[in-house]
Amino acid sequence: MQANQTMETEMATISYAIEGKVVVVTGGTRGIGLDLAKALLAQGARVVVCGRKQAGLDDALAALNGGDQVLAVAAHIAKEADVDRLFDQTVDRFGRVDALVNNVGMNLITGVVDAEPSLFSKIVESNLTGTWLCSRRAAQVMREQKAGKIVSITSIAARRAAPFMGIYGIAKAAIEMMTKTFAQELAPFNVQVNAVAPCMVRTGFSQPFWSNDDLHKEIVKTIPMGRIAETADVVHPVLFLCSDGAGFITGQTLMVDGGASAV
Ligand SMILES: NC(=O)c1ccc[n+]([C@@H]2O[C@H](COP(=O)([O-])OP(=O)(O)OC[C@H]3O[C@@H](n4cnc5c(N)ncnc54)[C@H](OP(=O)(O)O)[C@@H]3O)[C@@H](O)[C@H]2O)c1
Repeated sequence: MQANQTMETEMATISYAIEGKVVVVTGGTRGIGLDLAKALLAQGARVVVCGRKQAGLDDALAALNGGDQVLAVAAHIAKEADVDRLFDQTVDRFGRVDALVNNVGMNLITGVVDAEPSLFSKIVESNLTGTWLCSRRAAQVMREQKAGKIVSITSIAARRAAPFMGIYGIAKAAIEMMTKTFAQELAPFNVQVNAVAPCMVRTGFSQPFWSNDDLHKEIVKTIPMGRIAETADVVHPVLFLCSDGAGFITGQTLMVDGGASAV
């Protein structure tokens, strides 16, 4: 994406043929998830976003300005009852689930050696358990429909041990295997399951890293394309994997990292 382009203007120039599809984006209230929700609306999809905080959902609804094409549900993805409510409300409102994007992710800065077990559980629950709960509920609907797409956002940290992000990386690596496992179970039902694994993306989540000039320089040195990712760099591959064009791709993790994992 060019620096002077907004997500909305760029989305008008590339079509993914996902008009009318019902897409659930977990954690769609800011960062990659919010920009993905904007892009989906620009493509004519119907969008469901969730987040834990009502204030974030209210702000997202205002930013999306999508009228009855958007549903916002307060839900913590690691709580089974919340996940049930998220999918029940989606089906009540839109009648089906064409795609799920498991976008929620969180990290608490810690080493693995000295982390308390409670911290380990918290990171694993929000990243891995929540992704499983959402994938499972979506898969049950999609299996009946005999169609659907599940896309999870993992991270380069799933492939490369990173200081203070070890538990996060462990959880994200497990999501890669979960992607393969769901893909295998759901292949007979015409449901494709994939993941994208970005390097650092310019959002609030990673701001402590990219807003520090010295750290930013060190990170960019590891990326052959010489920059960190913008949200649009992740949104485009996710849109493709949610589209009918990706109908024979399943069980894959696509690295979206400017070549970082290729060297
Ligand atoms: N930014 C990066 O550098 C980077 C790099 C590689 C991969 N990723 C991955 O990309 C995805 C999106 O990252 P981002 O940078 O856009 O994150 P972000 O800006 O921190 O946004 C996270 C979103 O998830 C929601 N959320 C967090 N925990 C939740 C939970 N338990 N239940 C429901 N909603 C929850 C947040 O809303 P509430 O706070 O209201 O719940 C928010 O909408 C994550 O999976 C992340 O691991 C990011």
